Amino acid sequence: MNPPDHQNEQPRRLTPDEFRNVIGHFASGVTVITTTLDGRPYGTTASAVTSLSLEPPMVLVALNQSSATGRAIAQVGTFAINVLGEDHREIAVRFARKGDDKFDGIELAEGQYAGPLLADALAHVECRVTEQVVAGTHVVFIAEALVATARPGAPLAYFRGQFGRLELAPDPRDA
Ligand SMILES: Cc1cc2nc3c(=O)[nH]c(=O)nc-3n(C[C@H](O)[C@H](O)[C@H](O)COP(=O)(O)O)c2cc1C
Repeated sequence: MNPPDHQNEQPRRLTPDEFRNVIGHFASGVTVITTTLDGRPYGTTASAVTSLSLEPPMVLVALNQSSATGRAIAQVGTFAINVLGEDHREIAVRFARKGDDKFDGIELAEGQYAGPLLADALAHVECRVTEQVVAGTHVVFIAEALVATARPGAPLAYFRGQFGRLELAPDPRDA
């Protein structure tokens, strides 16, 4: 008996809810992507952030075409990735909203090439966009990492729509 031929079958398209529920099992960290346009800071919470290449150091960030931050990045060509620590849940929620008061009361630092930087973040990566690709509802920014710094600490995690803490598995070599 021949195996079933699936090549010409068009599978039913997943609904957004079906896809979100499944892809949410892929745990991630949480970042705030920042940029500055005409003297105004922009920032959005983002988990669609991936390290892409080590030589040269490159990253990928996917932002919805409706993101004010994404639109600003498309004009400026630079952005900073601020990796949030486990105590930064409120910052993540704040930067997931719309509006221009997101930076009120947040301690900032100036980046060398991009920013502003959230002073308390676990890590900062300043980036210059090399390519932009529209994919579905999002724009994928492919960028070179110009400056990267990190401090000790634990990251904020995101899993199935919830924030959490990362528990490291014991290293068997320590047993
Ligand atoms: C944990 C978390 C992760 C998110 N990740 C992304 C993302 O990767 N890309 C994106 O476009 N929006 C993401 N969002 C939604 C944006 O933060 C939200 O749409 C924000 O209001 C956009 O702000 P802006 O329009 O000022 O840029 C995420 C939200 C949360 C809570």
